[in-house]
Amino acid sequence: MPVPNFLRRRFVILISGQGSNMQAIVQACQSERCPAEVLAVISSRPQSSGLDWAADQGIATHVVAHAEFASRTAFDATLADVIDRYSPDYVLLAGFMRVLTPGFVEKYAGRLVNIHPSLLPAFPGMHTHAQALAKGVQVHGCTVHFVTPVLDHGPIIAQGVVPVEQADTPESLAERVLAIEHIVYPQVATWLAEGRVHLMPDQRVQVDAIFSRLFVSESLL
Ligand code: GRF
Repeated sequence: MPVPNFLRRRFVILISGQGSNMQAIVQACQSERCPAEVLAVISSRPQSSGLDWAADQGIATHVVAHAEFASRTAFDATLADVIDRYSPDYVLLAGFMRVLTPGFVEKYAGRLVNIHPSLLPAFPGMHTHAQALAKGVQVHGCTVHFVTPVLDHGPIIAQGVVPVEQADTPESLAERVLAIEHIVYPQVATWLAEGRVHLMPDQRVQVDAIFSRLFVSESLL
């Protein structure tokens, strides 16, 4: 039976580009698998193709263009104003390419979640696939984590692992990682919506009644 809207958790999703993770989360909510509603999608770039897709789904869309702000603080203040119109339970960063100020992160502490395309704490920052190839690691992947003021560093909710192949380029590896991102992030969104995810005092995460928070590509099994 569908979950009535008043019982659904409220998500706002922040993107900067194609928003394929956002689409995977929206589809999980539409399919009733995830008892949440995506109330708004906000992009830091006006040309994000994900915005059109979200609008086609009937989701409110906004652009808060970072290029139009003189400082990070001013950008974050406007972003928070738009987010707060929707009173979200969680703010999900999905390919959102801006570094947020500590004040913004504190405001949403415990409610701000990100996906990063590496197995953190390895390879924070940009160009993670090239970094992984340069180091010769044999596995790579993605991490969904709570956001802290330190970039790409925060309590880990779940990770997805894929193999690195000899012939990989950053592009081929990115494609393999993105495929597992689309499994991991909707699943974490579902756990959040179900109220299963707890940030513990030791800054580790506990997910009620879930045996494994590691998602492994079939080719590794
Ligand atoms: C993904 O690898 C995401 O983790 C990274 O940007 C890539 C594109 O994401 N930050 P999306 O298609 O915009 O969700």
